[in-house]
Amino acid sequence: MKKISFFDTKPYDKEFFDEELKKYPDYKMVYHEEKLNAKTAVLAKGSDAVVAFVNDDLSADTLRKLKKRNISCVAMRCAGYNNVDINYAGEHDMHVMRVPAYSPYAVAEHAMGMLLTLNRKLHRAYNRIREYNFSLNGLTGFDLHGKTVGVIGTGKIGRVFMDICKGFGMNVIAYDPFPIVNSDIHYVSLDELFEQAHIISLHCPLTKDSRHIINGKAIKKMRDGVVILNTSRGALINSEALVEGLKDGKIRAAALDVYEEEADIFYEDNSNTIIQDDILARLISMPNVLITSHQAFLTEEALGNIAETTMKNLDQFFTGAALENEVKK
Ligand code: NAI
Repeated sequence: MKKISFFDTKPYDKEFFDEELKKYPDYKMVYHEEKLNAKTAVLAKGSDAVVAFVNDDLSADTLRKLKKRNISCVAMRCAGYNNVDINYAGEHDMHVMRVPAYSPYAVAEHAMGMLLTLNRKLHRAYNRIREYNFSLNGLTGFDLHGKTVGVIGTGKIGRVFMDICKGFGMNVIAYDPFPIVNSDIHYVSLDELFEQAHIISLHCPLTKDSRHIINGKAIKKMRDGVVILNTSRGALINSEALVEGLKDGKIRAAALDVYEEEADIFYEDNSNTIIQDDILARLISMPNVLITSHQAFLTEEALGNIAETTMKNLDQFFTGAALENEVKK
């Protein structure tokens, strides 16, 4: 029997993994609500592997503690792995696997949902109507048809998002340092994208090159009244610069499914605490900012695929098969 410690468990994770585990009678999942970090790594004692998620901290310190307990298999139940010290893992014979794709549609559709909500102010309309306020004042949006959307990162999610935008009759331009050859994607330089796009949507991973790809300098280059969407990783945007751009009206609106300092806040009920993060509090106070709690992936299809691929990854590790979804240095 292989014992696996599952961190940062939420009821919806357990539901889909318990269902998938029916196919794997030789595996036992131990669910922990705690996030994985150097302090909580001790909970994995006696396990053969860990399953972790986007806001777990798999820095060298945590990996060292897992390795000390003879755990060398880390199965990320997400696509991104910016929170894992891949160098340390590689140098210490630890294997890190991920779920490269579970539903690009889930994330791309959420991005479009956020854009539609923000632009047509549906979040405000919903609240007004609940108070029998049927006034339309302040709810004016703009047609998406004919507008230019700039997509940063033309991978699986970026491409689905581009298709959705084309369905709306939008003009789609894109930037990616690794453009797809022989595609019909209209690639431009990052500066051209900043200058031309009415709407900018981020669909690239967080790397040292993409960190703060949206900063004060970039915002200055953008069109007045630009709308910014981020469903990728919080640190792609310098949040202070974003607040400044929103305050002076340069940025018309922002939709954020991710936030630079989300790790201790997102996914949790903080309604009884005072948020210490003044930048986040400022963003939440703005009527033209829509924030969701890293929710873009949350569809039944995505959760089912995450459970299926994660269990397959673990099984490949334990049966000595080739690790098709291993992340390497
Ligand atoms: P992907 O790996 O298919 O595509 C990423 C694309 O970004 C690639 O084409 C790559 O060349 C490009 N890229 C790399 N560095 C770049 C840079 N500096 N500037 C512009 N483009 C760059 O990844 P996929 O599946 O499309 O996911 C994209 C991102 O979405 C993930 O890295 C993850 O951070 C985020 N994500 C967010 C979720 C959510 O629930 N909010 C769920 C799943 C993914």
